[in-house]
Amino acid sequence: MSSAALDTDCMTLVRWLLGEQRKHPSATGDLTQLMTAILAAVKAVSSAVRKAGIAKLYGIAGNTNVTGDEVKKLDVFANDLFVNMLRSSYTTSLMVSEENEHCIEVDTEKQGKYIVCFDPLDGSSNIDCLVSIGTIFSVYRKISDGNPTVRDALQPGRSIVAAGYALYGSATMVVLSVGNGVNGFMLDPAIGEFVLTERNIRIKPRGKTYSINEGYAKFWYDPVKDYIESKKYPKSGKPYGARYIGSMVADVHRTLMYGGIFAYPATKESPKGKLRLLYECNPMAYIMEQAGGLATTGTMPVLDVVPEAIHQRVPIFMGSREDVEEVIDFFKKYE
Ligand code: AHM
Ligand code: MG
Repeated sequence: MSSAALDTDCMTLVRWLLGEQRKHPSATGDLTQLMTAILAAVKAVSSAVRKAGIAKLYGIAGNTNVTGDEVKKLDVFANDLFVNMLRSSYTTSLMVSEENEHCIEVDTEKQGKYIVCFDPLDGSSNIDCLVSIGTIFSVYRKISDGNPTVRDALQPGRSIVAAGYALYGSATMVVLSVGNGVNGFMLDPAIGEFVLTERNIRIKPRGKTYSINEGYAKFWYDPVKDYIESKKYPKSGKPYGARYIGSMVADVHRTLMYGGIFAYPATKESPKGKLRLLYECNPMAYIMEQAGGLATTGTMPVLDVVPEAIHQRVPIFMGSREDVEEVIDFFKKYE
């Protein structure tokens, strides 16, 4: 390709954010600055996931680290990156990470007006076998005066200012919403920039796929059992296809792009499901609603759940509007 064929005016994520910022005359640019910190971490994680620099770590024999140092585990590495980048961005006062038991408070002199909840590397069981993994994040405004408290982190998803995820899949993509729709930005490793490739993503009103860990069917409650049964043995039409990667970001991204439903229900063994409200369910529910889809616990919108603890779990069903409405109807039958 000659250089003349390349786009010299592409829409990078930061350029896009600056455009959004201009629409709000009172905006200070802090959110753009915060996102810049997140993007720096995402790029570094993406590079590590793709094993850049591996040749330096492994000797000719194959599997020993030549320096003798222990290689940092990818999820710890990712967490350190997100915490450090956000801490030094002057935009954040409190963080909630899946990797840390307690909230992380930023030093007073570096505090900013936002609260960030994140799962730095979700899909941990998929890391070592090279299956897609992701990062999930959401941003809230600090609501307390003075020093941040855990109350700042316990806001319902409805108060989200911005949320999104990074998928380290066959390519790296960031999907983001700041409250007026959803856009997807692909990382171009040649220039190290995220370029707008999926404009105004809208999820189909109905899909053809369900995504759930069917291995736990024995422990499902009746509404879930009946709903999945109705997808496999429909009274009319074709059965739904099944897809389950076991990496929330990958399963949700596929659902967003192709339509259908993703579910992690409550089971008799895990009465609240598995996925965490603050940094797994809420950001994804926000993206789904912003793309025209829905996200429910079965009995209420995920975004309306008022959190009580930073690591609390909720059951979740999300995706195409009509598919999620059907699940809600199954729950109503058993009320
Ligand atoms: P993790 O935070 O330990 O990585 O667990 C979260 C992951 C999600 O990505 C995925 O949706 C789910 O766990 C899969 O769980 P299961 O193996 O029970 O189906
Ligand atoms: Mg996780």
